[in-house]
Amino acid sequence: MAKEKAATAEELEALAERRRQEQVAERQKREREKAQRGGLWSRRDFFGRLSWGGFGVISLISLLAFVRSAFPRVLFVPPSTFKAGFPADYPVGEVSEKYKTEFRVWIVREPSGFYAIFAKCTHLGCTPRWLASENKYKCPCHGSGYYKTGYNFEGPAPRPMDRVKLTVAEDGQLVVDKSVMFRMQPGVDPNKQHPESILKV
Ligand code: FES
Repeated sequence: MAKEKAATAEELEALAERRRQEQVAERQKREREKAQRGGLWSRRDFFGRLSWGGFGVISLISLLAFVRSAFPRVLFVPPSTFKAGFPADYPVGEVSEKYKTEFRVWIVREPSGFYAIFAKCTHLGCTPRWLASENKYKCPCHGSGYYKTGYNFEGPAPRPMDRVKLTVAEDGQLVVDKSVMFRMQPGVDPNKQHPESILKV
């Protein structure tokens, strides 16, 4: 009977040990599964964030494109036609630089009438300067020189400067129309090759 009791105690001990081992194995198994689940969720998080990030970038680009479309690309250029004051504003013999900066035009008054020169060097397109003391236009880029009429006489400029149309408005003011250009050919006095460029007032 005592032997039976001792055997039962050993069995109980073995049973307890087996349970402990099973519990340890179970715990380890749960931890492994938890670790696997954790890795899986990390990957999901990564792809989820990536998707939301892409969506955010596309939304931002669309928004910027929409805002940009509200401000159309407009190039503000001065009008080709403008009023330039009354003839009496211009002393005879002078070159007026009043409209050179804004409209790139000199207005010249001679005893024979008015003409307007387009202030663009015929060499490579720089804007010459009027040198009143030397009675000539001088290009700062490569040194071309032009007489008051726009005729080229020094430097690499191949021909005289062009002129633009001058008329008189109903109110008596001069009107410069840059859409009508008198193109000058080389070797001929501009007053002679385009006499219609001179406004007689
Ligand atoms: S651009 Fe005027 S001289 Fe060359």
